[in-house]
Amino acid sequence: MTVSAPPIIIIAIDGGAASGKSTSSKVLAERFHLLHVDTGSFYRGVTAEFLRLGVSATDAPVVVAAAAALRFGTKLHGRSAQMEIGGRVVPDAEIRSRIVNENVSHFAAIPEVRAALLAYQRGQVDVARAHHFRGVVMEGRDIGSVIFPDADFRFFLHADPTERARRRANEGGHDSIAERDRIDSTRKTAPLSCPVGAVSIDTTHLTAAQVVETLAAPVSARLAAR
Ligand code: CDP
Repeated sequence: MTVSAPPIIIIAIDGGAASGKSTSSKVLAERFHLLHVDTGSFYRGVTAEFLRLGVSATDAPVVVAAAAALRFGTKLHGRSAQMEIGGRVVPDAEIRSRIVNENVSHFAAIPEVRAALLAYQRGQVDVARAHHFRGVVMEGRDIGSVIFPDADFRFFLHADPTERARRRANEGGHDSIAERDRIDSTRKTAPLSCPVGAVSIDTTHLTAAQVVETLAAPVSARLAAR
């Protein structure tokens, strides 16, 4: 008798900058043995690469050609997927730099850049399978709307802008999250918004641990019922 592998679980977590996505995604990955995929780091990696090549977000034909030439791979860092571009992992210090913060939303608004990342993001499920994870917890802006609209769980995190600015300042970065949110929410392709049917959670007055428990409860309940 052959025993088929249990289905892969997909958890989509979307939300604006500093809404609590990364912290909670990492804990869920640990708790449920999932591959953690931070798609923001992918957009950041691509942005760092474009900047390295001297590509400007205002020069659409050059961006389109550069996006088509990108070759992606994935390396595991603990439970997290790290993007490789042309065989090189773009270091964290580079993708979290001020210049990347200032440029990433402009590149992410270009449909061809999003298209170049679409299959790569969906392909993280194969990476999870290959490494025997139980599933994927993927965070971003359009995961529950575009990448995995049929995910098992779709959450949308939001918080008061003042609280989010305070969280980001505590992390010590130079980041204009209000400006990124404005660009991300108003772009034509895959704008940041709560997907229909997703569970929307206001994290303004919740601790990180409370956010995790809110997200984990339905997942635990579903797994227990299987
Ligand atoms: O963590 P933080 O909120 O600073 O942002 P991030 O998740 O690292 O994402 C950086 C930027 O990538 C966002 O401001 C978006 O412009 C873009 N992004 C996107 O367009 N779609 C995604 N699925 C993830 C990120």
